[in-house]
Amino acid sequence: MKTPFIIGEKIYFRAVEMDDANLLLRCNNQPEVRETFFIAFPSNINRQELDIKNLYDRQDYIPFIICEKETDRAVGITAFHRVDLVSRAAVFSIRIADPADWGKGFGGEATRMMLKYGFDQLNLNRIQLVVSTENERGHRAYLKSGFVQEGIMRQAMYHHDRYSDFYLMSILREEYYKHGGLK
Ligand SMILES: CC(C)(COP(=O)(O)OP(=O)(O)OC[C@H]1O[C@@H](n2cnc3c(N)ncnc32)[C@H](O)[C@@H]1OP(=O)(O)O)[C@@H](O)C(=O)NCCC(=O)NCCS
Repeated sequence: MKTPFIIGEKIYFRAVEMDDANLLLRCNNQPEVRETFFIAFPSNINRQELDIKNLYDRQDYIPFIICEKETDRAVGITAFHRVDLVSRAAVFSIRIADPADWGKGFGGEATRMMLKYGFDQLNLNRIQLVVSTENERGHRAYLKSGFVQEGIMRQAMYHHDRYSDFYLMSILREEYYKHGGLK
């Protein structure tokens, strides 16, 4: 493992490095992946490198590269956005870069690892996310990790000639620890 920050069963998290620019570029341009984030504009390597350069100057954005333990391969990125240390709240996101790596359990495990990090180490009170109602895989991984559906954001995003509804989901600290924290 290369400079792991958090170690799980199949995966570990490490900080984002300049060498990860290509992985992020794939996430932002590859149609199947970017469409789940409704990204409509292209990105290039310069943009990615600029983003990575100043990434950890901010305290409201905490990203990790998800690596497969067995191979040391970088498979995706997960992050807390809009980290608010007054309200103790953050927005969660995750992307596994290659559709061939979907359904292997990486996303579910990474989600649970981020919840543990968010509640155990950052002392957050609320973690929220939004996910398209058409993204069954994501929705299922989040429900299984303990996220609760709060509501539906109607016609939240547009692509393929139509609007899509999004679920607003969250998990509170008290819910997470009710059963002793998710493993
Ligand atoms: C969403 C995403 C992070 C999930 O990661 P993953 O590694 O594919 O997820 P997992 O392998 O842990 O599977 C999650 C759940 O979805 C289920 N699943 C797998 N394929 C599925 C499918 N085609 N339809 C519905 N559910 C499916 C799995 O069985 C699993 O549930 P289970 O643990 O009860 O069996 C990943 O697919 C991804 O990065 N997609 C593109 C980007 C994206 O959608 N990000 C989220 C935007 S909010």
